[in-house]
Amino acid sequence: MKPRRAAAVGVRNPRKKRGALRTGGWDDDPFTRRAQRENFPARSVYKLQEIQKRFSILRKGDRVLDLGCAPGSWLLYAAEVAGSAGRVVGLDLSPVTIALPAHVTVLTGDVFELAQRPADFCEEAFDVVLSDMAPATTGSRGVDAARSFNLCTAALAVARRLLVPGGAFVCKIFQGEDFKRFIDAVRADFAEQRVFKPQSSRKASSEIYLVGKGKK
Ligand SMILES: C[S@@+](CC[C@H](N)C(=O)[O-])C[C@H]1O[C@@H](n2cnc3c(N)ncnc32)[C@H](O)[C@@H]1O
Repeated sequence: MKPRRAAAVGVRNPRKKRGALRTGGWDDDPFTRRAQRENFPARSVYKLQEIQKRFSILRKGDRVLDLGCAPGSWLLYAAEVAGSAGRVVGLDLSPVTIALPAHVTVLTGDVFELAQRPADFCEEAFDVVLSDMAPATTGSRGVDAARSFNLCTAALAVARRLLVPGGAFVCKIFQGEDFKRFIDAVRADFAEQRVFKPQSSRKASSEIYLVGKGKK
């Protein structure tokens, strides 16, 4: 995995000058337009904002690991909430090309590698592990759900190894036949566990978020 330190030390407004979101058709909805206005690279930021509003998972000074972080909306939001006393590390198969604040670091890599060798990736512990990872979709709900479940299982393995006791976990999953199994796995590791569908998540999407608080 190649660490990419944010090249943006001293950037005044890291949310400026990023690539435009697609407009027209499927992507042309109120959340997409709002993300454009507010200079976020993806509408997914509003899902994390809703999760934060409901569950208060991020706090000032937190160390946050963001799995599946490209194109970077969650990174920007987590960096804003954690503040410069905090630290945000992102991982994605795809590089993140937007300018980021100095307390954000991005690694290009695969979560399955990270789950196998977390110590090679980083020695530090995190207060919060986020996963908005999604597989490349195939059009078959069953196949996509099975792939999503595999990503979630890797994210949970990473959270088990790198979260501090009492830490929080947020994970997107495509609902399918393994959904209940994953809820049970999260329940086993966290004192509190909730399932949440943000308003900004498209109704037609099978995605839903699991929130675990109080890592055992
Ligand atoms: C919905 S996007 C995340 C959007 C992001 N939360 C944001 O706000 O900008 C899902 C991401 O999961 C990433 N992903 C899928 N499989 C992955 C894997 N095996 N390891 C790391 N990232 C992965 C994809 O590359 C994609 O960028």
